[in-house]
Amino acid sequence: MTATAHGKIILLGEHAVVYGADALAASLSPGADCVARVSAEGTVLTVAPWGSSFRPGDGTELGRAVGQLCEAMGSGDAALSLTLHLPGGGGVGSSAAMGVACARALAALQGRSLGDAELLGYALGWERVFHGNPSGVDHTLAALGGVGLFSRSEGFRRVPTRGALRLCVGDSGERSSTKEMVDGVARLRERRPEAVDRTVEAIGVVARNGALALQAGDAGGLGELMNLNQNLLASLLVSTERLEDLCASARSSGALGAKLTGAGGGGCVIALAPGREPEVLRGWTALGVEGRVVEVGR
Ligand code: MEV
Repeated sequence: MTATAHGKIILLGEHAVVYGADALAASLSPGADCVARVSAEGTVLTVAPWGSSFRPGDGTELGRAVGQLCEAMGSGDAALSLTLHLPGGGGVGSSAAMGVACARALAALQGRSLGDAELLGYALGWERVFHGNPSGVDHTLAALGGVGLFSRSEGFRRVPTRGALRLCVGDSGERSSTKEMVDGVARLRERRPEAVDRTVEAIGVVARNGALALQAGDAGGLGELMNLNQNLLASLLVSTERLEDLCASARSSGALGAKLTGAGGGGCVIALAPGREPEVLRGWTALGVEGRVVEVGR
């Protein structure tokens, strides 16, 4: 049986969500598919399209994550064949999608399916391998899908939307480690606690207002909040010149809002540009970025 998981797009609220604020996020599909079978040669995870294999004890984070997951689930040796449909390290939830798909595939091999709470527990263990302090937004969206507000204290609350939510997504090609970006914000907070805490609070308000705009079908309002969120993220030092250029290009091509998505330091940008998507993509192509239009939260 093929197990599946979603990727995710954070519409508003990354980084602040680590400190307890709300984030507004939507699933991106397909994320990852995985099939598990009994292995006579020890546990191994193969990832397409990378063509790479990972084993517990091989010194890689993925090897460690899969070893820990098998142990937590009481699984015997398994060969997990995973297909990732997302760019790795691009800010769209690839590691969480892998963890959720692997946990579901191992459960299927054990002849059972996982309830949400159990699945989220295993996926949190997986995410902790990649960064010590995950808020939970990535693996929650990977498991549950949809669109909603997420916070550490209140979990996932779905937000009803008016019709499909279409976004342009462009991959800057720059790569960063979520752990390093999250650690960078933590260091900034040690130096300037008051400023960072105010920014976190402001981002949480932006995310909650974004949920209201989304619910009301107010694309202009949502776009403005995305732009505001991008400025707040830049003040947390998680944006880059390239990400700023891609956001500026999207806005000058008619996007109502544009921002980085995920941990920043590279990865993807998103732009909300109803009716102007081709112009946004053309602008990005001129900057050497192949973007695409996605429908999120399905
Ligand atoms: C990463 O996709 C989102 C961050 O807010 C980290 C987290 O929420 O764990 C940067």
